[in-house]
Amino acid sequence: MLSLLGPREPLCINGDETALRQVLINLAGNAVKFTDAGAVTIMLDTDAAGSVRIQVEDTGPGIPEDKLPFLTQPFFQVEDVYQRRNGGTGLGLSITRILVERMMGKMQIESEIGQGTRVTLTFPRHFPAAAADTVKAA
Ligand SMILES: Nc1ncnc2c1ncn2[C@@H]1O[C@H](COP(=O)(O)OP(=O)(O)OP(=O)(O)O)[C@@H](O)[C@H]1O
Ligand SMILES: [Mg+2]
Repeated sequence: MLSLLGPREPLCINGDETALRQVLINLAGNAVKFTDAGAVTIMLDTDAAGSVRIQVEDTGPGIPEDKLPFLTQPFFQVEDVYQRRNGGTGLGLSITRILVERMMGKMQIESEIGQGTRVTLTFPRHFPAAAADTVKAA
């Protein structure tokens, strides 16, 4: 179980701490790498269905709509090799998706050219058993 510090209370998910750290490093790394000006924002809350939601948002160049379906294919990169300013292998998002799905999560990527990109992760919320809380508190 992972306990994340939410805006008002800890939000728990079932998962692996190292894997979640890797996921966040990949997503924040992309956001910082591709954004020349503006901001990178990471948000944690719950969505309307009560799932735990993590969003990584940037004000970078955005991704063309027709490329979005391919982003999680291994080695896929939007810019061709001659235009590339940024390094990388094109593996980050494919690994990220596998790790997220292993933690029963979902990853959604929204983007608008010239505006930026937002990656939303949703995980089923885990409620620790009341009994376990009681034992810990004792
Ligand atoms: N936040 C973003 N803004 C703009 N383009 C992005 C963003 N995130 C990913 N991309 C595009 O999607 C491609 C694939 O991303 P991915 O993280 O899989 O690979 P990478 O960052 O190029 O390399 P690696 O993660 O292996 O170091 C990137 O090369 C880039 O073209
Ligand atoms: Mg990457």
